[in-house]
Amino acid sequence: MTILTIATTPFDGQKPGTSGLRKKVRVFQQPNYSENFIQSVFDVVDDKDGALLVIGGDGRYHNRTVIQQAIRMAAANGFGKVMVGQGGILSTPAASHLIRHYKAIGGLVLSASHNPGGPDEDFGIKYNVANGGPAPEKVTEAIYARTQTIDRWLTVDAADIDLDAIGTVSVGGMTVEIVDSVADYAALMETLFDFDAIGAMAAGGFTMAFDAMSAVTGPYAHEIFERRLGFAAGTVRNGTPLEDFGHHHPDPNLVHAKALYDLMMGADAPDFGAASDGDGDRNLIIGKGRFVTPSDSLAMLAANAHLAKGYAGGLKGIARSMPTSAAADRVAQALGLPCYETPTGWKFFGNLLDAGLVTICGEESAGTGSDHVREKDGVWAVLLWLNILAVRRIPVDALARDHWAQFGRNYYARHDYEGIETDRANALMAELTASLPSLPGRSVGPLTVAAADSFAYADPVDGSISANQGLRVMFGDDAWIVFRLSGTGTEGATLRVYLETVQGPDGVLDAETPAMLADLVTAADAIAGIARHTGRTAPDVVT
Ligand code: G6P
Ligand code: ZN
Repeated sequence: MTILTIATTPFDGQKPGTSGLRKKVRVFQQPNYSENFIQSVFDVVDDKDGALLVIGGDGRYHNRTVIQQAIRMAAANGFGKVMVGQGGILSTPAASHLIRHYKAIGGLVLSASHNPGGPDEDFGIKYNVANGGPAPEKVTEAIYARTQTIDRWLTVDAADIDLDAIGTVSVGGMTVEIVDSVADYAALMETLFDFDAIGAMAAGGFTMAFDAMSAVTGPYAHEIFERRLGFAAGTVRNGTPLEDFGHHHPDPNLVHAKALYDLMMGADAPDFGAASDGDGDRNLIIGKGRFVTPSDSLAMLAANAHLAKGYAGGLKGIARSMPTSAAADRVAQALGLPCYETPTGWKFFGNLLDAGLVTICGEESAGTGSDHVREKDGVWAVLLWLNILAVRRIPVDALARDHWAQFGRNYYARHDYEGIETDRANALMAELTASLPSLPGRSVGPLTVAAADSFAYADPVDGSISANQGLRVMFGDDAWIVFRLSGTGTEGATLRVYLETVQGPDGVLDAETPAMLADLVTAADAIAGIARHTGRTAPDVVT
């Protein structure tokens, strides 16, 4: 097979972020744009001769086009085999599993996660390495450096293949295997969870609503929840992946999954409600009449994980990102487990998982996962919840109350100020950073600052230091505020203010969160000058 060498010139701005290269579809559609990035990835991957590469995406607009390009380019670059999910579909955790299970050298995960899809919306390409997780910074730096000097990309003269036909074909002498998108992932789930117990609960009348948000988890949810576990047809809503997610944001929060929230708070609520995002790594958990915050979900899953067979031996440790509530720390303490506090971003859990220091990880941004893959995993979180409920035989609300009575309750909220002018947001953070040393001793209402710092993380595995990962203002041991700028926004800056106050097991466990956080909200504005800097007197989103 003849390898074609196509001359090209670099594009600016092909720097992969936490979650790979994310841009508008129209940007990716420019001639050479995707090819330059994919070639840059291939140029920095060592030992690709004869190696296996996994490719799949969340089904959004432009997915199939890039997969066809990537297959031809993989053939020209010497890979031995490419494994692709049927129809180009692989959830992010399923791609992570295939990479690990089949010992691939890595994988291309095509997604823009919870961002909208369609010709005028977003697309993304992420490279995951052999452990199944997102490429670490030294790899993404090398990819970026290559995008700045690239002068050619390689392909073969071959036609598009049928991505929908399961089986094996040859492209330019390389094997391409189209695999069932769900089968291996579902088999992994069966090793971790007691499908018989969950199935018996469903047969006994326990009901669920799972909103796949017209995104990638549809096929996984239909197969696992309806076919294997026997939940009624219709349990999975919006279960067909659409290229534009039905014009919605496939983001499982209380704003974009409002229909599910309203259902769960209404008279006809099923026993359990859940949703996942565009690429299947995030999760939203709502019991009948009880929303569970992602931070609480992590703590409750950690406290009960031993009830599922995959975790029956107990956990090695728990990790959470710094702005995630400390509810999980209280569980770790009670169970005598190490607890790690990392910067925001799933990639920081990779080393801890690979080194066997932790089993379960979670973030306030609706991500929970374990050492079964190296990505967060929405369907996994739902199954762990179901397994726990099947063993404990109590409603979600009762489980939450029971949890707080045992461990105490961390009242927690995140206030987002979106689309702030970047200069103003930077000025707010700079001024707050400069004032940190002078904050201890300052009182706002009933609260007095005990300590204030800028969070830095020393990775216990490789010793690397990540500084400036968020500003923390602590009021004694039981209340604090974290300020940070979003790393994922696309327009202007988003200021995130995380507010938290803790009540012990004998404290106030049944209050409304806003009432418990009111003094902290006042303190946040007084200390950071949010209104003064941004002109905003209220957040755009409260989660
Ligand atoms: C992505 C990452 C998460 C991270 C989140 C933070 O979703 O996969 O690991 O928690 O971004 O987003 P932010 O906008 O707060 O920087
Ligand atoms: Zn996602």
